[in-house]
Amino acid sequence: MKTLNVGLIGCGFMGRAHSNAHRKVWNFFDLEYRPVLKAICDSNEERAKAHAARWGFESVETDYRKLLARDDIDMIDICLPNNMHAEVAIAAAKAGKMILCEKPLARNGKEAEGMVKAVEKAGVPNFVSFNYRRIPAVSLAKKLIDEGRLGKIFHYRAKFLQDWTISKDVPQGGDSLWRLDVKAAGSGVTGDLLAHCIDTALWLNGRIESVTAMTETFVKERKHQLTGKMQKVGIDDACAFLCRFANGSLATFESTRYARGHKALYTFEINGEKASIAWDLHDLHRLAYFDHRDEGKVRGWRSIHVTDHGGDHPYMDKWWVPGLNIGFEHSFVHQLADFLTGLAKGKPASPTFAEALETQYVCDAVLQSAKTAKWEKVKKTK
Ligand SMILES: NC(=O)c1ccc[n+]([C@@H]2O[C@H](COP(=O)([O-])OP(=O)(O)OC[C@H]3O[C@@H](n4cnc5c(N)ncnc54)[C@H](O)[C@@H]3O)[C@@H](O)[C@H]2O)c1
Repeated sequence: MKTLNVGLIGCGFMGRAHSNAHRKVWNFFDLEYRPVLKAICDSNEERAKAHAARWGFESVETDYRKLLARDDIDMIDICLPNNMHAEVAIAAAKAGKMILCEKPLARNGKEAEGMVKAVEKAGVPNFVSFNYRRIPAVSLAKKLIDEGRLGKIFHYRAKFLQDWTISKDVPQGGDSLWRLDVKAAGSGVTGDLLAHCIDTALWLNGRIESVTAMTETFVKERKHQLTGKMQKVGIDDACAFLCRFANGSLATFESTRYARGHKALYTFEINGEKASIAWDLHDLHRLAYFDHRDEGKVRGWRSIHVTDHGGDHPYMDKWWVPGLNIGFEHSFVHQLADFLTGLAKGKPASPTFAEALETQYVCDAVLQSAKTAKWEKVKKTK
């Protein structure tokens, strides 16, 4: 067993999800590396201290530079607002630390390119937290597609719907509302929600070649939480785009924070020549599957309860007994387990920074197309 000292930065929503994963991963997976919660860092000292006490971190920092200067830290886990990803990751790479970074990799492709360059120059292991890949039903979808069960793929359809910013009284910027401030977030639903859908789609269905998009900002001005002043809203509140994949399939993607009644409805459906699959985050342990080759009398959509053992259902034999569900938090445990396994084998887990750059390029093309009202080609990664 080798210990891996973790310095986690940012103890909000994702700080909690990652702390939980670092604590649990060793309890459920057989791994060479064991994470040790060495230091938590947050600019809000009170929050950092409370987080350390709750999750068992050995020490507290309030300046990430001090954390990076420490010899007793092996891995930096970035759970910060998007505008801090590039600055911290590039400094962490220079300090020779391995890096786990929350999604989106950065605010735009250019920033992300700098991050890829920095980790490649430093030769440090790196990984981006597109955790939905590691929900067992989604991983099973990948397995079914790779086995060729769907045949030629014609359509990919994804949605990520929320409703929490409908009120014009929701402020922008600052604590937890940085997502509404374009300077901190880079974009609105495109970088925040569609980035997840795009990552899953690239993983399941391959490269996206071109896109045409529309965006809207329904509330034009919001009070800034930090300055108290009304300011123009620069993010996209809603985005819908069409795209063409390199494999010839056509796709539609939609995301909004204005779909009354929906809190985090991430769904996708893929239609192939022989079979279709569909998944819904609100019922995340199930995968819907329709196989045209089934006998006519019994042919129909089946709902696979993805909890079987024996290797049939990814990750599940590490948890309880068949029939018992797991949830959102476990996707973070799974991605950490895969990262640590990759580290031991010298085979990086996916997506690395270089791989996540592809999602960033798709987001860039989507936002560009919304401006030009034209089809835009997606820049190719190396
Ligand atoms: N993978 C997912 O499902 C998922 C879900 C939510 C958020 N995210 C991503 O995780 C990242 C963080 O999002 P969140 O929802 O946890 O945000 P959050 O607002 O809940 O937490 C951010 C934390 O960072 C701290 N912070 C801000 N600036 C800092 C600085 N300069 N130095 C130290 N600490 C600082 C804040 O005090 C806060 O505690 C974002 O990039 C977001 O896109 C991913």
